[in-house]
Amino acid sequence: MDSSLIVFLSTMFAPLALSLSVFVVLRATARRKLRLPPGNLGLPILGETLQLISAYKTENPEPFIDDRVARYGAVFTTHVFGEPTVFSADPETNRFILQNEGRLFESSYPGSIQNLLGRHSLLLMRGSLHKRMHSLTMSFANSAIMRDHLLVDIDRLVRFNMDSWTGRVILMEETKKITFQLTVKQLMSFDPCEWTENLMKEYMLVIEGFFTIPWPFFSTTYRRAIQARRKVAEALSLVVRERRRESEKGERKKDMLAALLDEGGGGSGGTFSDEEIVDFMLALLVAGYETTSTIMTLAVKFLTETPHALAQLKEEHTEILAKKGVNEALQLEDYKSMPFTQCVVNETLRVSNIISGVFRRAITDVTIKDGYTIPKGWKVFASLRAVHMDHDHFKAARTFNPWRWQNGSGTTSCSMNMFTPFGGGPRRCPGAELARVELSVFLHRLVTQFSWVPAEQDKLVFFPTTRTQKRYPILVERLNQVRAM
Ligand code: HEM
Repeated sequence: MDSSLIVFLSTMFAPLALSLSVFVVLRATARRKLRLPPGNLGLPILGETLQLISAYKTENPEPFIDDRVARYGAVFTTHVFGEPTVFSADPETNRFILQNEGRLFESSYPGSIQNLLGRHSLLLMRGSLHKRMHSLTMSFANSAIMRDHLLVDIDRLVRFNMDSWTGRVILMEETKKITFQLTVKQLMSFDPCEWTENLMKEYMLVIEGFFTIPWPFFSTTYRRAIQARRKVAEALSLVVRERRRESEKGERKKDMLAALLDEGGGGSGGTFSDEEIVDFMLALLVAGYETTSTIMTLAVKFLTETPHALAQLKEEHTEILAKKGVNEALQLEDYKSMPFTQCVVNETLRVSNIISGVFRRAITDVTIKDGYTIPKGWKVFASLRAVHMDHDHFKAARTFNPWRWQNGSGTTSCSMNMFTPFGGGPRRCPGAELARVELSVFLHRLVTQFSWVPAEQDKLVFFPTTRTQKRYPILVERLNQVRAM
């Protein structure tokens, strides 16, 4: 049979197959008399997906969760994106889910996302290989590397990009450029050049594929993303091959690729293959790019809307700058003397909820709080957002208030345990510290070099990702003639 016909048929019959499998799962659950958390499975096939999407397309998605928590409690059953799902807005249950990764639950991404990520990406690895590669990734932003070169690299790239800013700047575009260049530098030591620009163009097509409906027959965006992924993978493979040749001659760079080439024990027990290394690098590019650039943009938005916080931040950075030359690179000690900046970083992470929660699948029947059961095979969504936005855990939780982190004035005694923008357990974000440093350096250079006003009204939306609708255009004015070196 012609392959496009197979795709067509499977696309047409997928919803039917899905609803049948949902029916089978629900009947099996009922037969075994499992005590599910209360809730509503909504319409056949669609469940409550449309309600969720329409809530998350507004500036205030909270009612979707608030209404259900009020009716059923902090853990409830719903049906979203084609599957019955247990939704947790409860910090204790979230912690239980995240900590039991690999034992009771496992991370679960749709096949379309797996195709784009590549099967050897960290996000899809499991077991001991995952553990080792997770700590290798984390080690790439440890304080020795930060002190040695990473902080200087970040600072230089931020200044290099800001150097061309004038007049109207679309902040989300600029922060994307910065984070892409930083990751490429960290992964394989390339400075911005024509090659990195071409790579970024292809790579942006790959990213679009993550946020589209992945029906290959209908979605040109998804098809284009798969083609672009192939091109990006080819470009990265050439780099890997070249670097293998160099390392045979005894040359060694201080980057992630060098560490991967050194690292023994890939899938087959030997060193990693080119394909494994390429998948791994590509997934890191994906994981750090959209998240960090969005957090940079939203920090600026929140600060612009909270002038008192912006003034205090500016004071902190002007003092740091006064102690050193304008063109002198930031050092680790400078980063460590930014207490108010860290409050701004925390609060931006808390309010923006870039990753609103994480999906898992139950490997076995799991009994949770209050004696409810999550049946084997069911999806679970641990909502990080619901906890961050809960007034019981954070005073006036829906207001941007960086001072709450200063002396616990706006947090409850256990808020630190409730604060999980980077997830938790074995899959806790290995780029967490890196993202914090990138944002801090970005804010330092921004507030000491520019003043700005929003170029037009823009609003936050949370579906398909957290972002502002117009990519936050601002009008910048340079405070002094600082040029990157
Ligand atoms: C503000 C920025 C960021 C936020 C809010 C964020 C958030 C998260 C969250 C919540 C997870 C957990 C996903 C899960 O449990 O299923 C995660 C995982 C991950 N993040 Fe980040 N992240 C950020 C930046 C970065 C950066 C800069 C990198 C680059 C190294 C990165 C790389 C990863 C990777 C590779 C994973 C998968 C870890 C695993 O499955 O073991 N992230 N991130």
